[in-house]
Amino acid sequence: MGILSRSPISSRRSSDDSMKLFTTALFAIAFGIVIGLSFPSLWITETSLPRNLLRSIAISLRDSGIATPHKAIDISKIWEPSNPRGAERLPSGIIASESDLYLRRLWGNPDEDLVKQPRYLATFTVGYNQRHNIDACVSKFSENFTIVLFHYDGVTSAWNDEFEWSRNAIHISVKKQTKWWYAKRFLHPDIVARYDYIFIWDEDLGVDHFNAEEYIHIVKKHDLEISQPGLDPETGFNWQITKRREHSEVHKETDEKLDWCSNPPRPPCAAFVEIMAPVFSRDAWRCVWHMIQNDLVHGWGLDFALRRCVEEPAFEKIGIVDSQWIVHQFIPSLGNQGKADNGKAPWQGVRDRCQMEWKMFENRVEAAEKDYFRSLQVESPSNSTTSH
Ligand SMILES: *[C@@H]1O[C@H](CO)[C@@H](O)[C@H](O)[C@H]1NC(C)=O
Ligand SMILES: *[C@@H]1O[C@H](CO)[C@@H](O)[C@H](O)[C@H]1NC(C)=O
Repeated sequence: MGILSRSPISSRRSSDDSMKLFTTALFAIAFGIVIGLSFPSLWITETSLPRNLLRSIAISLRDSGIATPHKAIDISKIWEPSNPRGAERLPSGIIASESDLYLRRLWGNPDEDLVKQPRYLATFTVGYNQRHNIDACVSKFSENFTIVLFHYDGVTSAWNDEFEWSRNAIHISVKKQTKWWYAKRFLHPDIVARYDYIFIWDEDLGVDHFNAEEYIHIVKKHDLEISQPGLDPETGFNWQITKRREHSEVHKETDEKLDWCSNPPRPPCAAFVEIMAPVFSRDAWRCVWHMIQNDLVHGWGLDFALRRCVEEPAFEKIGIVDSQWIVHQFIPSLGNQGKADNGKAPWQGVRDRCQMEWKMFENRVEAAEKDYFRSLQVESPSNSTTSH
């Protein structure tokens, strides 16, 4: 249009008028073409009508014999509403919506890259000072595991110099971040979709009496969606239920009977594992990942809410494995790396933050649950959610 309006103006009035008419006509034609070309395709791509419906409209228009309606429905453009969000323009056959952490070669036939495809994933959040303990841990995980190390101290390559297994492990290094921060960012359920079980473990666990392959065997046998190994009672524990029992394979409830959480069985008496050494099934992790809040990095309180991620009765799907057990060594690590403030020691600042996060998480879960039931206009069935 800009070009047309700048065309030379004729000196004679009649040719001036015809020029105006010509310009208008030209513009109208151009406008019609633009609309004809772009509108139907815009309409097609932005709509979320099911593809089958669009197709049947197109076919009925075609069959009706009316002239030129094929411009109105453009079935040459792909719009696949059942594709993952954002990928609707792709033919569904090419979509790879899930991934894995398998290492590949730079050469050769891709089909032959993977000599093994581990079905289990073990992650540890580590500092270099704990390398010998992590070396001992990794030795308890067979070749059927992918090993991921999250390095909170930034030291990575030194591990490769010391440990053969480290060269095949996946190292993710971000300074002074916590296990749940890494898990949220690097263990998206679609990324770890190949793994049947996911271990998200601390660095200070003693594994002399633990074998990962045997552990998984037991977890499968007892149908546990979320679990942890029992803790050696000699070295201390935070909650009764996590205490290892002798002559037992698995337990799902505390042996002490506490009125406030035993009927029906609730955390921390049942349906409870701690956040230090949890093991998740693929399905449970898909749910838990969504529950982890981006700004709450210590994960306190998460253990009380895990039951929400398994089918009821939750106390049957969450349990402690006694026959494969660990020792919590209570080695201070990230907990010491806070910031001295107002005369408070660095560890105190971290501890305060943990408590604060717990409170915030609890409030969020309660508020969200209330909102949900209010929207249904029914009374919330449970009073307490994450607190003890
Ligand atoms: C690894 O998995 C395979 C297939 O399930 C099994 O046969 C093998 O025994 C496992 N390896 C170890 C060390 O348990
Ligand atoms: C919830 O709390 C109210 C009082 O705050 C109590 O009357 C009610 O029985 C409780 N419901 C459940 C399911 O615990």
